[in-house]
Amino acid sequence: MLSFVRQPTDEKRDLNIHDTIEATLEIIGFQGRLRDVGIRKNYNDSVPNVRGCEGSLRQVFLSIITNALDSMEGSGTLTVETGASENAVFVKIGDTGQGISQEHVSRIFDPFFTTKAEKRSAGLGLSIAGKIVTDHNGCIEVTTKECEGTTFTINLPVSA
Ligand SMILES: Nc1ncnc2c1ncn2[C@@H]1O[C@H](COP(=O)(O)OP(=O)(O)OP(=O)(O)O)[C@@H](O)[C@H]1O
Ligand SMILES: [Mg+2]
Repeated sequence: MLSFVRQPTDEKRDLNIHDTIEATLEIIGFQGRLRDVGIRKNYNDSVPNVRGCEGSLRQVFLSIITNALDSMEGSGTLTVETGASENAVFVKIGDTGQGISQEHVSRIFDPFFTTKAEKRSAGLGLSIAGKIVTDHNGCIEVTTKECEGTTFTINLPVSA
């Protein structure tokens, strides 16, 4: 998997975020993981480019979308929305899954925090995603409601 995600260099360049999201969805599609979920895309075609590392940002979206699919256990709706504020682009990734309990939500970005021990998950996906987004001078926010779902918002500064 990482060979798909990682690019040979870590160079940052101007990226169309929709291309990065679509490439990630294609990878997840190859895994057969999108078969039983609905996808609702709401892309704002006028969002500006962001300055970023394509491979790293694919890894961010891969981790967050994979978690969304895990939480829905094969059925539900994945929502991917983009938009822009004054100097940042946002990507919202929503699921209709189990949600995250109050006691867990403050720990999800901690390395090795996982509730998927039975799947032998490492609990590293979000800690790495958080680091990558910080390295892009962006931030990730999360809103969640138990039994209803979770939305992650990735904010990335636009290129100068
Ligand atoms: N969309 C989501 N819905 C419900 N719980 C979530 C969601 N995203 C993250 N979590 C919770 O946050 C925890 C940490 O996520 P993270 O991606 O870092 O690790 P993981 O998925 O458990 O393992 P890994 O990503 O290393 O395979 C998950 O185990 C899960 O409890
Ligand atoms: Mg994960």
